[in-house]
Amino acid sequence: MSEVNKGYFTEENSADVVISRIADSTEPRLAEVISVITKHLHAAVKEIEPTQDEWLTAIKFLTETGHKSDDWRQEYILLSDIFGVSMLVDAINNRKPSGASESTVLGPFHVPDVPELPMGANICLDGKGHPMLIKGRILNTAGEPVANAKIDVWQTNDDGFYDVQQKGIQPDFNLRGVFRTGADGTYHFWGAKPRFYPIPDDGPVGKLLGSLGRHPFRPAHLHYILEADGYETLVTHIFDPDDEYIHSDAVFGVKESLLAKFDLIEDPERIAAEHPGGPFYQVIHDFVLAPDA
Ligand code: BEZ
Ligand code: FE
Repeated sequence: MSEVNKGYFTEENSADVVISRIADSTEPRLAEVISVITKHLHAAVKEIEPTQDEWLTAIKFLTETGHKSDDWRQEYILLSDIFGVSMLVDAINNRKPSGASESTVLGPFHVPDVPELPMGANICLDGKGHPMLIKGRILNTAGEPVANAKIDVWQTNDDGFYDVQQKGIQPDFNLRGVFRTGADGTYHFWGAKPRFYPIPDDGPVGKLLGSLGRHPFRPAHLHYILEADGYETLVTHIFDPDDEYIHSDAVFGVKESLLAKFDLIEDPERIAAEHPGGPFYQVIHDFVLAPDA
């Protein structure tokens, strides 16, 4: 900032003047964050050159986003999701060692304290959709089994809704469960083949997506939180690679390493032995946990 302009706000020095006012902050991290945001925000406004009406439209959008938010619906997180910012923050905070499974977004539909189920249980309580066997191993980066790992899993039903979105329609805890690995680190349970579904799009974020020519869909996936003593907690998904939205997830959550294989099992011997009700899908996926930092 030039001596002449010191303290006076001009179009040219706008960011510097605002940043100079926080020089005495006693909270260095906050001051750093606000400085960076101010610098980039002013640069964006200078590049965009909004009209007053456009600026008011932006303010109204943020106001509506706040009004749409409550303890259950977090429209600002959805906004962060569709900008790719949730995935960027996730990537910055989850740089995994080579060989460890990658993370992705938690999403708004996790439920704490879901009852623990015996290994092999069926979490599909509404009987909808194609039955699916999900199995694999929880390993460490040395390839050894992780015993007593907690597997917290949740997915949508065949109509594309989580149980908590359809209270009174779906059974409580439909398509969610907690399992614990034994000494061999293996897991298996039954669910239903997931489907693509829209993120909540009845608010300002959904309207913005529409105006931008973007769809609100997430490709079919299962959510996981994996926890074990001595290991970093892993928040992740597995995705169906054949889903029509696999290359255009509304929240950018797909990573190549998270693609699983969803195989239709039609072999009569396996059907007789494992699922006498008829053909079923199978997905086999191992997760590798990183050691605690
Ligand atoms: C989900 O996968 O549950 C989800 C993630 C981000 C936004 C909305 C839903
Ligand atoms: Fe989801």
